[in-house]
Amino acid sequence: MNAAVKNTGKIYFAATGWDPEIWIKAFAKAAPEREIVTEVKAGEEASIDYALVWKQKRGSLANLPNLKVIFSLGAGVDHVFHDDQVPDLPIVRTVSPDLTMRMTEYVVWQVLDHHRLGSQYRAQQLKKVWREDRRQPAASEVNVGIMGLGVLGRDAADKLKHLGFNVSGWSRRPQDVAGVATYHGKDGLSEFLKQVDILVCLLPLTPDTKGILSMSVFGRMKEDGPLGAPILINAGRGGLQNEADIQAALERGLLSAASLDVFETEPLPENSPLWGNPKITITPHAAASSSANALVPEIIRMIRDYERDGTLINLVDREKQY
Ligand code: NDP
Ligand code: OXD
Repeated sequence: MNAAVKNTGKIYFAATGWDPEIWIKAFAKAAPEREIVTEVKAGEEASIDYALVWKQKRGSLANLPNLKVIFSLGAGVDHVFHDDQVPDLPIVRTVSPDLTMRMTEYVVWQVLDHHRLGSQYRAQQLKKVWREDRRQPAASEVNVGIMGLGVLGRDAADKLKHLGFNVSGWSRRPQDVAGVATYHGKDGLSEFLKQVDILVCLLPLTPDTKGILSMSVFGRMKEDGPLGAPILINAGRGGLQNEADIQAALERGLLSAASLDVFETEPLPENSPLWGNPKITITPHAAASSSANALVPEIIRMIRDYERDGTLINLVDREKQY
């Protein structure tokens, strides 16, 4: 598309569960000329040009006749497709250095915590135990396998490589990433898994990837490596994981530990057995949060580019759903 788009309409903040004030303030600073609304009043429907979404209410975008672009405030877009009435319009997802760095920090933090025996030493400290009797492998002896070699997976791979880990990656299509052994597709999965000591999942949740972190994957990984049985780190989406299988794999020693940032049901229900499992590190979907101050100027820039000549970047493939 390269025709200039004439546009003066409003922005609809259709995110649920987030404090709109922070976003409204960020918009007021970055683009004071833009009006942003948190609800569409009767009669106002035609004035909405853009929607910013995170788990929008079902049907909330369905009757906006001049809506042009849907901006997902997250990198993942499964939450957009949850709404079966989402209109057939371009969906732009979040790709931002700020979000990428946050995710890389989380991945590096968790990889290093497992690699450097963080949970063992925290447990020892609680009992005032001074013991250094476990061999500490070098990073170069440890293979970190990343499922998903997209924007986030590649950056994490790069930083882990610089820390000296052996890094491999798995994607849908063949990908070339310097210094990373790459595998792709269903046919490449077993080969990828069999060498992995720490499995990091940064896949999107799509019909193809739903439930992929299951016994079928854990059973294909090597049973012992320099860190013992493999470790799972999932910061992709909860729908990627079968939580009963994770528990069973931890019990059977197919996995030795897991760091989970995302869950089948969020917030994680109080009665979930995951909470009490000492082999699991839980964070509340906090690996990489979307910062209004970082993202709003980028969204405004994208809107201006779109209005200038129709350019839109970071578009979601509706068929693949990522
Ligand atoms: P990208 O779209 O850039 O990358 C997705 C990667 O997954 C690509 O390498 C893609 O393969 C691969 N992939 C998709 N489908 C399959 C499949 N069926 N089989 C194998 N590989 C597949 O996404 P991002 O890196 O930006 O983000 C990844 C996910 O991280 C998001 O979708 C979101 O769910 C999650 N996330 C979680 C956050 C948190 O706080 N926990 C924060 C931000 C994101 P190919 O390269 O071949 O296309
Ligand atoms: C995202 C997320 O998709 O925060 O960006 O989960």
